[in-house]
Amino acid sequence: MQEISGGVYGLKGFITFEGIEGSGKSTQARLLYDYLKAKGYGVLVTEEPGGTKIGRKIRELLLHPDNSMDYLTELLLYNASRAEHVRKIIYPAIMNGDIVICDRFADSTVTYQGSGRGIDLVIIKTLNDIVIPDIKPFISFLLNIDVEDGLRRNMGAKKEDRFELETIEFHKRVREGYLQIAKEEPERVKIIDASRGIEEVNREIIVELEASWL
Ligand code: TMP
Repeated sequence: MQEISGGVYGLKGFITFEGIEGSGKSTQARLLYDYLKAKGYGVLVTEEPGGTKIGRKIRELLLHPDNSMDYLTELLLYNASRAEHVRKIIYPAIMNGDIVICDRFADSTVTYQGSGRGIDLVIIKTLNDIVIPDIKPFISFLLNIDVEDGLRRNMGAKKEDRFELETIEFHKRVREGYLQIAKEEPERVKIIDASRGIEEVNREIIVELEASWL
């Protein structure tokens, strides 16, 4: 446990970034990492799917545009990556007193496999209870952006993966799913207007985080 702004942050050290494609969450996760690191905190930035050797292999399987798969297979692979990640990387780092910043986590499964693919939320939550029974982000930044703007931003940035090739309707359902989670858990999920410039978004995230640590 270490002190932050006068408070203990053992349980306050797990931060996630969420949002649709092109919302800028990876950039913002990295900027927050740089900020906290410069302040002298032990920080780890990681991502899902991925974060471990096995997780990166699963990520390749999941995202390759040729790998069409059953939606249940997809759901289980995301959970397999998460099981490995929480046990090998996230828990140990938190136990060590580090702050963990994760680029996507369980909310992505609720929105992409639940709202997007239409898998029953009871199934998703049951798996969630098995895979991550005792860890929940203390704060989640939902980078909110219009679907068309997000996809436009992403164009040319990298080769299109399986999800970037999905329909606009799919991404709209995912975005709505995120807004629904934020509505249900306003204490944890902070909606950030991601249509603004990188610096402005970064400043708001820092203000929100520091306020929540008090
Ligand atoms: P990224 O490219 O933003 O890192 O995320 C990889 C893709 O995986 C992205 O399109 C969202 C998707 N995804 C899910 O469908 N379910 C999940 O549980 C996670 C973590 C990501």
